[in-house]
Amino acid sequence: MKRVLGIETSCDETAAAVVHGRHVESDVVHSQVSLHAPYGGVVPELASRDHLRNIRPVIEAALSRANCTLDAIDGIAVTCRPGLSGALLVGMQAAQGLAWAAQKPIVGVDHLIGHLLAVFLEYDTPGTHEPAFPFIGLLASGGHSALYKVSGPLATDIEELGATRDDAAGEAFDKVAKLLGLGYPGGPIIDKLAAQGDPDRVTLSKPMAQKSELEFSFSGLKTNVLRWVTKHGRPGDDQTLRDLCASFQRRVVDSLLDKALIAARDEGIGRIVIAGGVAANRELRTRGAERAAAQGLEFIIPPFRACTDNAAMIAYAGAMRLERGEDDAGRLEMSPHTLLPTVTRKGSGRRRTTPSAQSPG
Ligand code: KG4
Ligand code: ZN
Repeated sequence: MKRVLGIETSCDETAAAVVHGRHVESDVVHSQVSLHAPYGGVVPELASRDHLRNIRPVIEAALSRANCTLDAIDGIAVTCRPGLSGALLVGMQAAQGLAWAAQKPIVGVDHLIGHLLAVFLEYDTPGTHEPAFPFIGLLASGGHSALYKVSGPLATDIEELGATRDDAAGEAFDKVAKLLGLGYPGGPIIDKLAAQGDPDRVTLSKPMAQKSELEFSFSGLKTNVLRWVTKHGRPGDDQTLRDLCASFQRRVVDSLLDKALIAARDEGIGRIVIAGGVAANRELRTRGAERAAAQGLEFIIPPFRACTDNAAMIAYAGAMRLERGEDDAGRLEMSPHTLLPTVTRKGSGRRRTTPSAQSPG
């Protein structure tokens, strides 16, 4: 069982964690939300500069909260893809410096694999339920929304079944919140407002309702909200705003769940795991559990803190490679693209050729 230092800087969170086996010994996340909030989205240049300012104190805090030194670590895992190039490089440089100085193995981790394995993390209560492979992974974050067949913890065990053709689910939450003047990031704000709204009072069309393919599309729904606002005016802080948020959220949640349930049925797999920032959404968690139970499926929900970006999931995913004696020292490469072959192309749906014939990402 390895003790791993994880480092994550792919987007707007500077994070470091120490994970021993499945157990999270420390989990430090410095969020840049307030830095990017005035712009309504992440500004890459500002992100890199802020990572540079915070990477050292965040790593030091992770080690000290775990009561541990670099010597007591068996290896280092760092996110090397996908993400903002300048942001990724900050974490990778720090990780490589530490690995070299302490003479420890280092492995690069695909951020999406980190999200998909976050459900294995064990926080304060040891002995929490550990899902079994294979499972259908429903990953919905700010940058990605896709369904995966996850047969094991390595990249070669993970197969994309379909993804979004346009916006990611979290991106849709963020864009709709922006057009409603609600602030950034939109997901948690809409989640709160929707809880007090009626999803049936404002009619919005269901995304890709007629399609049984394992793909998502959220940009039409966003345009639907925009049209509603153009016609009726932007609602103030009133019940109409809550109803509009509830209607939008219900459409996103049901679209994600519809396709996840189809994937489970098609693949003959009895369990669904949710992952990524949108997996923190309360309606997705409760409605998902109800709908899956109605079909006799297991629905596995990671703790809130494991859903949004963190370094514990990176440490755990890296441990799976370190356990096999792998070491990327001297050949760690950054990429803005995921390592996982993709079957859905943004803007144009399913690829006609086999995924292996495509360029990476
Ligand atoms: O996984 P994550 O932290 O970062 C990426 O890898 O993108 O996901 C961030 C996204 C944001 O778009 C945010 O609005 C969304 O997750 N999000 C939520 C909730 N909490 C975060 N969306 C819906 N409901 C939430 N409670
Ligand atoms: Zn993420």
